[in-house]
Amino acid sequence: MDKKITYVSIMADEGIHPSYEKALREVEEILGREWPIYINGKEESVGHTFEKRSPIDTGILIGRFQRGGGAEFGKALDSAVTAFREWSREDWRNRVAVMRRLADLIERDRFRLAAIITYEVGKNRYEALAEVYEMIDVLRYNADLMTKMNGYEEPMSSPVPGEEPRSVMKPYGAWAVISPFNFPMALAKGMLTGVLITGNTAVWKPTSEAPLSAVSLYELMVEAGVPDGVVNLVTGSGEAFEDSIVANPKVAGIAFTGSRDVGMRLYRRFTQSQPWPKPIVLEMGSKNPVIITSKADLDKAAEGVMRAAFGFDGQKCSAAARVYVQGEVYDEFLAKLLERTRSIKIGDPRLRDTFMGPVINKSAQENYAKYVEDAAKAGAKIIHGGKVLRDGAFGKGYYVEPTILVDVPRGNYLWYTELFLPIVLVDRFSTLDEAILRANDTEYGLTAGIFSEDMNEVNYFFDDIEFGVVYANRRGGATTGAWPGAQPFTGWKASGATGRGVNGPYYLLNFMREQAQTIV
Ligand code: SER
Repeated sequence: MDKKITYVSIMADEGIHPSYEKALREVEEILGREWPIYINGKEESVGHTFEKRSPIDTGILIGRFQRGGGAEFGKALDSAVTAFREWSREDWRNRVAVMRRLADLIERDRFRLAAIITYEVGKNRYEALAEVYEMIDVLRYNADLMTKMNGYEEPMSSPVPGEEPRSVMKPYGAWAVISPFNFPMALAKGMLTGVLITGNTAVWKPTSEAPLSAVSLYELMVEAGVPDGVVNLVTGSGEAFEDSIVANPKVAGIAFTGSRDVGMRLYRRFTQSQPWPKPIVLEMGSKNPVIITSKADLDKAAEGVMRAAFGFDGQKCSAAARVYVQGEVYDEFLAKLLERTRSIKIGDPRLRDTFMGPVINKSAQENYAKYVEDAAKAGAKIIHGGKVLRDGAFGKGYYVEPTILVDVPRGNYLWYTELFLPIVLVDRFSTLDEAILRANDTEYGLTAGIFSEDMNEVNYFFDDIEFGVVYANRRGGATTGAWPGAQPFTGWKASGATGRGVNGPYYLLNFMREQAQTIV
């Protein structure tokens, strides 16, 4: 695969359209089916199912999925514990080979997988394909990393003559992996690659908003040669999963990507209920700031903010949510942002020109209406958007307008709460120190951006900003678009500090513990 594939190169590639459109038709054929759960490689039914409908048009039934409960999660965990013995003893080179095969299969099926993402969560074709390519690169980057690190086995030297010591990094055991809707494949694959390539096994509970993405990926894992029981996929109730898994002493670790509230609850329950300290890898939300100084290229800044605030309807943990603009250029920047936002195409994400599809569900749409109402009540001005779209075809799904708020009073909760919607707050500042202080005035710390052509300002920002992934002058997305092997995705503070970002050189260390082996 061409390593230089990005969102921009996908958009420029005319060749994708017939293949993607054919894949949409193929995926239609599998919609509406009932799907099993998979424990120890076997398909099982629970007897109760839930329906997943498309946010594009709720008349489209994505499928019926098993409503797994405590019994299924417990059984899946036992299966992962049993499979751990063989998988962990497997030569790491064989695990790497399985992951490379999986990357090849995902590449083979890229259009089908992208079409599934579109149907299931409403992502446009460019973002959906970018997600699939991100997943391929996740696998290949980590396969290369394992090879480069020689499976994390390192000869040591002893002062005692005749002793031959070495350091070996070993897996922990059976992990619980909980994946979100917004990157239903790439983020699941990020965590699962870390867990599996290092020799751990998994019980995987995907969000109920994207179960078909999970099942499709699971099928490819089987085809790639992931042995029975190494990954056990159980859809179903989040509460039952938490209750049956978190306090279960057989769990070796938790890898979670999702909201801060759920992540922190898992963290507290897990640390309190386990018999000894165990690893928990959390990637949570954020409230990402962008600073635009008077020395910025304002076209670049407006384009970068528009893409980062409204791409996939702001439903990215990396989305731009707060924009601070230096007074002198405030009006000009706002005019440019407005011009770009006005030209956004909202609609069915299966159509080629759509930039913003629907939000994920009814409650996201209701939250949107509430946030806009609260902003207006607090005296903010809605300078673009603010409406839930219900006319015509919009009424079939969950569509809202991209929204720009100004004059939201300082201290208002909208400055601090992650909305996970296409709503961006813009305000002015006087000095860079003030802007950085306000950017850091949050419990979160995932991504942040600056636009300035003055490298002194950029370096000053990099020194003082308390965020894990920081960008300067990124036109393609002021705070979004981290790529495996390029931007390790690491949240600070309430965004989920382990300090070792997904898809960076240290991520795999989250899933291994060291054994010092000495032979005399
Ligand atoms: N790569 C995505 C982004 O940075 C998140 O996984 O936007």
